[in-house]
Amino acid sequence: MARLFTKVKKFVKESFRKCGFKEQIKHLERTVYWIKKLKPNADEALLIAAFVHDIETAFAWKKLQKNYKPKFVDKNRLKKHQKEGAEIIGEFLEKQGANPEMVNRVKMLISKHEEGGNEDQDLLKDADSISFFENNVDMFLKIAKKAGKEKVRQKFYWMYNRITSKKAKDIAKPWYRKAISDLNKLNKNKMKNEK
Ligand SMILES: [Fe+2]
Repeated sequence: MARLFTKVKKFVKESFRKCGFKEQIKHLERTVYWIKKLKPNADEALLIAAFVHDIETAFAWKKLQKNYKPKFVDKNRLKKHQKEGAEIIGEFLEKQGANPEMVNRVKMLISKHEEGGNEDQDLLKDADSISFFENNVDMFLKIAKKAGKEKVRQKFYWMYNRITSKKAKDIAKPWYRKAISDLNKLNKNKMKNEK
């Protein structure tokens, strides 16, 4: 089983390096870390799902190149992201000869990692949010200069408010508050002039 996780890590890292978005690997590694913090006895499927949950982004990024736009809080994009991510990893795991139970569980976890659903889907969503505030805020502050502060503010609100467990919310809270404060500090004129 551990060998399967190693293969998944290689596949995910290569996919993000090839598409030109290798910075996202840190976010994925830390999602695994936060899953272990929130659920020390997490099973292999949950750890695999944590590492691979954003795989659709690597494929969409590669296809769209410079025209790739963040999902922000667009419900349709988020649903597509979950659904296609589950299909991509499902196919990969089947090719590796993973047992159907494992394939289905990983797919089930990825398929609701943005919206949440059952206990483990919620757990993955919460770990994703913590890792987002820990690792992805600077990227979104840069995006705010082009896309506008409000879109990014909505993204920060949504990523924080979707967290289910109090423990996860308490971990994310200081990062979330700093993210909103840093966003508020962004100078409007500077935003217009900077590319
Ligand atoms: Fe994520």
